[in-house]
Amino acid sequence: MDKTIEALHSQLAQDGPPLFFPDPEVPAVFNFDQGLAAPETFPREDLLRIARLVLDRDGADALDYFDPDTGYEELVFGYRRLRERLSERIAATQGPVLGAEGIILASGSVQGIALAVNGFVNRGDVVFVEGASFPYALRYMDMAGAEVRAVPVDDQGMDTAVLERMIAEAESEGRTVKMVYTIPTFQTPTNSEMSLPRRKHLMDLLRRHDFILVEDNVYGDLRFAGEPLPTLLSMDDTGRVIQCGSFSKIVAPALRMGWMAGDPRAIAALAAVRQDLGVSQWTARILAEFLSQGLLDPHLERANAVYRSKARVAVDAVREHCGDFVRFSEPQGSFYLWLEIDDRIDWERAATLAAKEGIFFRPGERFTTGNDDRQFLRLAYSHVGEDVIASGIARLGQILKECA
Ligand SMILES: Cc1ncc(COP(=O)(O)O)c(C=O)c1O
Repeated sequence: MDKTIEALHSQLAQDGPPLFFPDPEVPAVFNFDQGLAAPETFPREDLLRIARLVLDRDGADALDYFDPDTGYEELVFGYRRLRERLSERIAATQGPVLGAEGIILASGSVQGIALAVNGFVNRGDVVFVEGASFPYALRYMDMAGAEVRAVPVDDQGMDTAVLERMIAEAESEGRTVKMVYTIPTFQTPTNSEMSLPRRKHLMDLLRRHDFILVEDNVYGDLRFAGEPLPTLLSMDDTGRVIQCGSFSKIVAPALRMGWMAGDPRAIAALAAVRQDLGVSQWTARILAEFLSQGLLDPHLERANAVYRSKARVAVDAVREHCGDFVRFSEPQGSFYLWLEIDDRIDWERAATLAAKEGIFFRPGERFTTGNDDRQFLRLAYSHVGEDVIASGIARLGQILKECA
C-alpha cells in the first residue's frame, strides 16, 4: 500500500479542487480578481480604540472561550451581546425580530453556510443554486453529498419560473428538495438583483414545497444607487429562511466574523453540527461595541461613497475602451462589473494575453455550474485605486481589440 503523505490524504482531501488562487506567472499589475473591501475604508482608528477599550473594560473575559455570565451557549452560538446587537439591527433594517437565539456567529459567513449545509443536507438531497454562484458554498454542498442543480440566473436574479419546473422534476423523480441557496442582492458573480416578482414567486415556492432557503446577504448593505428591495428574510412567514451576513465585506475580512440569522428552530440545526468551540470572544466583543457605539451606519455611508466613485470610474472606462465588445449593466452596489464578452472575441487568447501583462480577473466559467457557452468575466474594482481601474481597463480594451 502506498503510504506517502499524499496517498494518506483522505478521499475528501484528494477530491478537493486545485488551489483556487494559483500564483500568477507574472506579478499582478492590475488585480481585478478578488472581491475585497477597499483597504482605505477599514476603520483602523475605531478598531484600535475599541480593541483597547474592550480589553480594559472586560479584562480576561475578553480573551476567554465564553462569557462566564452567559456560559456554555457561547461555545456554540458565539458572544451573546453581539448576537443581540445583530438581531436589533436586523429588526431595525428588515423587520423580523429574531432575538439572540435566532443568530449564530461563524468564522466568516462561509463557515455559516457550511453549518447550514451540514445542519440540513443529507447525502443525495437536491440543492438548487444559481447557475453562476459562490464556489466555496458549492464545495460544501458537494462535500455533504448533495446533488447540486444549477438554475439559470440573469439580470433579474435566479429564474424562479425555471426553478419551479426543476423542483417539480426533482419531486417527480422521488428526490428530496432540501435547500435553495441564493444571493438575491448583488448576486456574485453577476451582480444582478432578484426582481420583486421573482422574490415573491420564490417565497410562494417555499410555502408550497417546504425546503430551506438560504439567503446570502453579504453584499446587501453595500448599496450606492437605486432603492433596496425587501430581503427574503423580511418576506418570510414560514421560518424557513436563513440569512447569512458578514463583517468581511462591510468592515474588514480579517475580522473573520459572519452570522446566520433565522427562526431559532432553523438555527438549532446549525448549532447541532457545530463543534469548534465558537468564535473569537475578543473580536466579537469589539464588533458588539462597534455596533453599540453606532459606528456601522456612518462607516457604511463612507464606504459606499468610495464604491460609488470607483464604480463610476470602472463603468466610464469600460464604455470608453471596451465599447461594443462587452455588454453589462451598471452596478447599483457591491464590488463588481459582470461583463458579457462578445463572441467575436477569441476569449481564450484575450485572457492569456491579459494574464501575461499582469491583468487578472475572474473568468466567468469558474463560477458557472451550468452549460452556458456565452463568455463572461467578473471584474472586481473595489479594492483597486481609481487610477489603476482606469488604466487597467484601458489596457484590457486594447487586448479585446487585438483579439477581435
Ligand atoms: C456571496 C458570498 N458569500 C459569502 C462570502 C464569504 O465571506 P466571509 O466568509 O468572509 O464572510 C463571500 C466572499 O467572497 C461571497 O462572495
